[in-house]
Formats: sequence, C-alpha cells, structure tokens
Amino acid sequence: MTYTQRTHNCGQLRSEHIGQSITLNGWVDGRRDLGGMIFIDLRDRYGLTQVVFAPQHNEEIHQRAHELRSEYVLSVTGTVQSRPDGMTNDEMPTGAIEVIVDAFEILNASEITPFEIEDDVDANEDLRLRYRYLDLRRPVLQKNLLLRHKVYQTVHRYFDAEDFIEIETPVLMKSTPEGARDYLVPSRVHAGRFYALPQSPQTYKQLLMVAGFDRYVQIVKCFRDEDLRADRQPEFTQIDMEMSFVKSEDVYRLIEGLIQKLLKDALDVDLELPIPVMDYYEALERYGSDKPDLRFDMELVTLNDAVEGAEFKVFSSVLDGDGIISGINVKGQAEAFSRKKLDELTERAKTLGMGGLVWMKAAEGSLTSPIAKFLSEDMLSGIRNAMSAEDGDLILIVADTRRKPALEAIGTLRLELGRELDLVDKSAHKLLWVVDFPLFQWDDETQRFYAEHHPFTSPKASDIALLDSDPAAARADCYDLVWNGNEVGSGSIRIHDSDLQSKIFEVLGLSKEEIQEKFGFLIDAFRYGAPPHGGMALGLDRIITILMGIQSIREVIAFPKTNSALSLMDRSPSTVSEEQLKELHISLRK
Ligand code: AMO
Repeated sequence: MTYTQRTHNCGQLRSEHIGQSITLNGWVDGRRDLGGMIFIDLRDRYGLTQVVFAPQHNEEIHQRAHELRSEYVLSVTGTVQSRPDGMTNDEMPTGAIEVIVDAFEILNASEITPFEIEDDVDANEDLRLRYRYLDLRRPVLQKNLLLRHKVYQTVHRYFDAEDFIEIETPVLMKSTPEGARDYLVPSRVHAGRFYALPQSPQTYKQLLMVAGFDRYVQIVKCFRDEDLRADRQPEFTQIDMEMSFVKSEDVYRLIEGLIQKLLKDALDVDLELPIPVMDYYEALERYGSDKPDLRFDMELVTLNDAVEGAEFKVFSSVLDGDGIISGINVKGQAEAFSRKKLDELTERAKTLGMGGLVWMKAAEGSLTSPIAKFLSEDMLSGIRNAMSAEDGDLILIVADTRRKPALEAIGTLRLELGRELDLVDKSAHKLLWVVDFPLFQWDDETQRFYAEHHPFTSPKASDIALLDSDPAAARADCYDLVWNGNEVGSGSIRIHDSDLQSKIFEVLGLSKEEIQEKFGFLIDAFRYGAPPHGGMALGLDRIITILMGIQSIREVIAFPKTNSALSLMDRSPSTVSEEQLKELHISLRK
C-alpha cells in the first residue's frame, strides 16, 4: 500500500514551521466537533499535534473527517498555522500551532478500544494487561520505557568507560541456588534431564573471573519461581557485574558512580558520595529492617537498660531471656491516637507475631500508660529520656525474647506509621549500604542452615574460624544497596578457594556426593588459579520504578506477568500438544 509518509513527527512542529506544508502520520487521540470545524489531536510516540478540518478551507475533506474515530491511523497533509489568539496551549510543546488539513488518508481503522488511551485510565490492571499493546500507547508507559532505554545507555557507557566487558551467559543452564525455585526446561535429546533458567548468572560470572576477563558486566534477564509482589516479577532484569582483585570498597565506589550518574541523567538530582555504610545488626536495631527507609526518622530505641530491674512481667521475662525491648517515638501523636486506634495497633503487632504492644503517652513531664503502675517513677523517666519524649508524644514498645522478629515487628510499625502520618519525604533519595549480614540463616523447620546471600559468598576473614565452632555467628563479606527503603542490589566478595567453598557446602548440609554433583564444576575451576573476586547485581526494574516514583514494577516492564505469573495477553503459560509432551518424555498426571 502506498501512502504519504510523514515529513515530521507529532511532537516536532513549532512556530518556526508556520506556513510550511507538512505530512504527519499517527493515531487519532480524540475528535472534537466545534463551531462547525472538526479538531483532532494526532498522536505518536513523540507527542500530539492539533489538526483542523475546516469547511471553509476544504468542504469535502471536512465532510470526510466525520468518519474519523479514536485510534484510527492517519496520514495527514496540511499547512502549519498559528493557533488563533487565546487558543494557544503552553502545556503542549506543539501548543502554539495547528495543522489545517489539505488532504488525508485513513491508513487503518480501529475498533472501539476496551479503555481510553489516556494517562489517567479508568480500567483495571487485568484489562490493561490483556490489551497491553493498547496500554503501551499511553504516554505514561511510553515515558517509563523511554527512561528505561536511557538507563540501558548510561549503564553501557559507564561500564565501557570503566573497562568492563559485556559477555552473554547461557539461558539454558544448570540450576544455581539463589533461594527461589527454578524454572525448568525439559531436554528432548536427553530423556529425563532438565535445564534451569538462570536465577542469576552467578556461577558463570565467577567462571569468567577464573578465565581472566577481570571485569564483566551484563544487563541480563533472570528467572525465579517465587511468590510475587509489587516489586517482584518471575522474570526480571539485573545489571550484573563482577570484578577480580577487589575489596568490597572497590565495588561500592564503582556502583556509587553509576547511581550518581543515573540520578543526574534521569532526574537532574545530585547524589552526594560516598553512600553511607551501616552494619546489618545496627540497621536491624535502629530501623527494624535490613533495608531501612531513611527518608524519615522515628528510629527504634533499645530500652533494655532503661527498664533493667523492672518487676513488670513482660519486661523482666524478656530481660531474663536475653531478648529485646524496643520502642519508637511517634512525635506529637498522643492526642491523635484514641484507645480504639491503639487497640488496632496492638492487633497489628499481634499479626506481626508479637504478644502485644505497650503504649505510653508523654504528659505533664511523665508518662501515662496502662502499665505505668508496674514501673517506678525512675524507670518511667528513664524511658522518657531514652526515647527523647516530650509532652504530647506517643511511645510504642514491643518486648520479645526473639530479637529479630521483635525488631522487625516494631520496624514494620515504624514504616506503616511513617506512611500513614505522611512523614516520608517523597522527593528525597536516601541510599545506604547495608553490610556484613550473617553468613547463614538457621531454619527450624528443615533443621539446617541456609546461605543468607548465596553459598559463594566469602565469610569475613576474621570469622572463618567460626565455621566450625559457631556458624550462626559468622558474618559474610557482603553488601546490599538500599534506596528509599528498597533493596535495589546485592553482592559480595566471593570464595575463591576450593577447600573453603567445599566447607561452606558442608555447613549447608550437602553431602560430598551432592557437592560434586551440583557444584563440582565450580570447585574444579577454583583449583586452577582462581583470582580473588567480587561483584554485585542491581535490580534494574526496581531502579526504574524508584526513578519514576511509582509503586509497581509492572509499570516499567513492557510485557509483565500478573502476581500469579500469568501473561494475560498471550495467555501463557498454556497447554501444549500431546505430541510435544511425548517428545519431551513427559506425561501429565491426571
Ligand atoms: P539477588 O538475589 O539479591 O542477588 O538479586 C539482586 C537484585 O535483583 C533484584 N531482584 C528482583 N527484582 C525483581 N523481581 C525479582 N523477583 C527479583 N529478585 C531479585 C533485587 C536484588 O537486590 N547473584 C546475586 C548477585 C551477586 O551476588 O552478585 C543475586 O542475584 O533488586
């Protein structure tokens, strides 16, 4: 089909084009019939241009324009003219001009779309995902993907200038544990055997260090079969990197430079470097989280010393059991929180696994509370001081023998109250390195240790002896990058010694045979001169989500899946033919 191709795009025309004859190609963004004339906005990726069909200019064309509907694809040829006085639109880059139509062709018609193509669309997400190609016509989504494109370019340029090499790693691979379930791909040629889709290219990038590439980077898809949330997709993208002969500080400096550039390029925000570093245990004690949101205060305060010797049973049993008593000061909210509201908060603390919640209100230089009668005046003033409480403040306290759950519970209340009371500075960008996590996590159910990061992470040199005596106390040489309370990246200095690597697998409860079967190739590689190395991976989707100031990761991915891992548009996962199953040596259980 021949048609008149565009001379300009729909975001390009300005006053300087007035008088020129031009052609635009694009979609009808809505039609208005006004004062005998027909106006449409013609839309493409670059913007909108007002196009006018006027009977006094061309009667026949004006008549034909009546058949135009939203989302028709047009080629419009006309003359650029200035808009009449008072009709210019400063909000629109093309708002000074309009195009008076001399000729047009309908290149394609459109059925009525299931929802309007506009930024504030009033359609539920399932419908939008089902017609994602229409959803993606909305300027907001185009903006997100454009920023995503810009981020790719910044990443490529940045790492290239730092001497990194981009190397692709396999998508069909042997399963690498990252803590989630694998997506498996059955082999046709080798009956009963499976590839796994990479949860990350972790083992490959380490092998590239053994191979001597020194600096590797890749923008790479990773696949994890795990419970999904607003910030998790079953397939997501990492900026994955690895370096030889480095200490953790070298990784920090490199990644900080990248984040600074991303913030500058995307938002023109200047990030001050270095990004502060906080030990995992300190983060937990001060914020009740391994990914503290530093955009507001309300820090947790440990009250064990302040209530030392208390006869109040809840406190004394926790002190005897080496537990924790931790409180937050909800500034100036004593009056605002009614008994009913405090009961709700107590219920919330219970759903977070706590026995209850102690509350105190600062008034007349002291503290009032249902439990005040069990505490001495000295103790009350000790708590008041420790919490820096002033009259009118509300103090919330949890006490439990299990330190981590208690701190996480009060940390969750901190976050929820911070949001509810609008304490979060939404324009701020607060970054933090959280470092030195425990190497292992004990799981009561399976009665074994799991790697907190992944099993290739090096213990801190000072903690290697603990692998035999007290593995739970050993810390890892690892680091998370936290941005406005989100974990956006994670990495570590790796083990490069085959004996130490075998030792870690043993602590994780793997038998010699299992170690050989699962990781033999890596341990073998470490026997041939593996350099010391380390690296990290950044969650690209999460970073774009934060840069765009939006909530859901699905808004920055062209074709995302739902929270139940479905693609509503093409209906995957789907059934396959008997024939295909047979070839793969698979039979389905009825
Ligand atoms: P980790 O598993 O912590 O580390 O992943 C790195 C970063 O990837 C992002 N991320 C996700 N984003 C969206 N959806 C998901 N399901 C998802 N899972 C993780 C997070 C996270 O911080 N191989 C190691 C890195 C290393 O040690 O170098 C790894 O994959 O932002």
